[in-house]
Amino acid sequence: MQAKTMLIASSALMGLMMPAGAMAADQAPTAATIAAAAARADATVRAMKPEEKTVLTHGIMPLPLMPGTPPPPADSIPGAGYIAGIARLGVPALKETDASLGVSYVMGLRKDGATALPSGLSLASSWNPELAYQGGAMIAGETRAKGFNVLLAGGVNLTRDPRNGRTFEYLSEDPLLSGMLVGASIRGIQSQGIISTIKHFALNGQETGRKFVDIRISEAAARESDLLAFQIGIEQGQPLSVMCAYNVVNGAPACGNDWLLNKVLKKDWRWKGFVMSDWGAVPNLETAINGLDQQSGESLDPAVFFADKLAARAAGDKAWAARLDDMNRRVLTAIYAAGLDKSQPQPGGKIDFAANGLVALEAAKQGIVLLKNNGALPLAASAKSIAVIGGYANSGVLSGGGSSQVNSEGGPAVAVPLGGEGPFAGFMAQHYHRSAPLAAIRKLAPQANVTYRDGNYIADAVEQARKSDVAVVFVTKWSSEGLDQADLSLPNGQDALVAAVAAANPRTIVVLETGNPIAMPWLDKVAGVVQAWYPGARGGDAIASVLFGETNPSGHLPITFPASVKQLPRPVLDGYNQYEANFAGDPPFPGAKLSANYDIEGSDVGYRWFARTGAKALFPFGFGLSYTTFASNGLSVVDRPGKGLFATFTVKNTGAREGATVGQVYLTARNGAAKQRLVGFARVNLAPGASQTVTVPVDSRLLADWVKDGWQVAAGTYSFALGEDAEHLQTPVTVKLAARKWKD
Ligand code: BGC
Repeated sequence: MQAKTMLIASSALMGLMMPAGAMAADQAPTAATIAAAAARADATVRAMKPEEKTVLTHGIMPLPLMPGTPPPPADSIPGAGYIAGIARLGVPALKETDASLGVSYVMGLRKDGATALPSGLSLASSWNPELAYQGGAMIAGETRAKGFNVLLAGGVNLTRDPRNGRTFEYLSEDPLLSGMLVGASIRGIQSQGIISTIKHFALNGQETGRKFVDIRISEAAARESDLLAFQIGIEQGQPLSVMCAYNVVNGAPACGNDWLLNKVLKKDWRWKGFVMSDWGAVPNLETAINGLDQQSGESLDPAVFFADKLAARAAGDKAWAARLDDMNRRVLTAIYAAGLDKSQPQPGGKIDFAANGLVALEAAKQGIVLLKNNGALPLAASAKSIAVIGGYANSGVLSGGGSSQVNSEGGPAVAVPLGGEGPFAGFMAQHYHRSAPLAAIRKLAPQANVTYRDGNYIADAVEQARKSDVAVVFVTKWSSEGLDQADLSLPNGQDALVAAVAAANPRTIVVLETGNPIAMPWLDKVAGVVQAWYPGARGGDAIASVLFGETNPSGHLPITFPASVKQLPRPVLDGYNQYEANFAGDPPFPGAKLSANYDIEGSDVGYRWFARTGAKALFPFGFGLSYTTFASNGLSVVDRPGKGLFATFTVKNTGAREGATVGQVYLTARNGAAKQRLVGFARVNLAPGASQTVTVPVDSRLLADWVKDGWQVAAGTYSFALGEDAEHLQTPVTVKLAARKWKD
């Protein structure tokens, strides 16, 4: 058994302002409680009548969207999914809502509002699992208050391409960072007696042709990258459900993929929960035998396979009957492990939006990454005139689109409709959360003349910038599920706007609200760049707090910002120029054929690819500035017999302000051959002059190769280095390791 990767340095994590009493005590299921639930599930399966055996295996989208579908059941709540219960056996219905960033809005079909966390990329920029846990617990509390009991959260697909439209929903390009954070977030969600998914299993790396793109990848590459993120996330978070993906993997649909579902997930990882399909990802009945346990959103599939058709097949075939029992056992295991049969969430619960907003605010503050500062930041509270330009900064902060869209009470501050037709056209709008940076800036600089220009007219913005002490330009780039991005540029002439404002005022600060990395042709001309991502319900306050130094920025990039798409494994995204995008991302292209070769980069995703090719990023993975300075040193890596490998190092705050940084430990070479992988990290908060020594475990899977059917560490010398980021590494230390092989 592997030593699981746990931060020993958790006492060093930044404290959070959690509202006392806002949440129930931690009920997160553990491997032991899940095993006990499985035994109970077994007994219930034995008590089931034949006609009850397909109740839990399929469900609808309880929304008035698809023409011709019957009205949703009376006890359903408008949301993503509904699976009927079995009252005779005390089995409750499953009421499902999206997603990782909060309780979603379903195109405005529900008006009850929710607290939006910052985007997944923002959360990952904190490198703080405790923050992920708190965020998960907060959104699960709201999930309960709205009467849902399943949260379709846990998006952990690795960023294989920065143009992927769902990059904002996911966490990072690294399996350790992603796995640790998603695990903590799931633990937080399930601590509130809510079932969480982890999704989309697996290799759902692009939206273009997402329902038919065939991802070609060797087993070794998959195990060492995307699958490892899921594996660590499952170990850390014990999600009770896995959502399989839309795409095809090595010729078989992810939701009907015997290798992924039966072999990797259920056999090798011994995972006991249930696999639900993504919405519209089930091509046939055979998916059941290949490991799918529940057909979700069935009206989006070609047929309802997991009701009568499944029952008929099970009636005439023992293997199918046994499979059907197993499907029920798995769904029931999740229900019992989450305690849903004992404590059912009820709609209409009270939500303390002020308290929950503080969780979102803290997350946004820790997620903001300072990318450039020539000394202009933090802004002096005494600045006399500040020109705020662009990005609807007078109204709110941008959010990402698609099924994960959250909106606060009262709906979005601004919604820019993008048109489109069909049942999902409602997703085609750019929504801004009600947290205006302009108001927050005015609050922190009460003596200043703070003006606003929308940035639509460059000459007007330039004139205002010229007259002001400082210009702060807010630039936005919307991204959404279903739509990949053409390139790394900013849309709507914003690059020209920034360049012109910077030419007029040398003290120009750019605030980025983007869901993906972008190119910055104007980088040399501006005084500062603040990456705020999609910063959530209190984003405007978080941005202002960082600009004025009330918050010392501490975020570090969880993905590489390429200097150009030419540096990527795929300079052109597969299918992008072939298949027109629309929201659903799955337009009817009969007979469409598309494959993506992930063996180009293999397991060298993101910074690993940059290290392999020697390409220099615009900003590397792990990068992030602060208003103070830090020094890390004294790395030692020790093999503790029977316990595994541990890395110890010291971080010192060498500047004049309190602040947090992230200690990063990388494998740099094995037996002299270059190989870069993040093997440990710790977020450390330090007073000026203070230092702290931290120890983190090193998961052997990060040193190993997947060979045939297991992990293999070759005997020899392993080199490790502390890194400020993935490109700036200190002199390595070496450790000799004996050869080792193991199965999982
Ligand atoms: C998305 C899932 C989501 C589901 C239900 C799908 O389009 O891919 O992430 O959970 O819809 O809304």
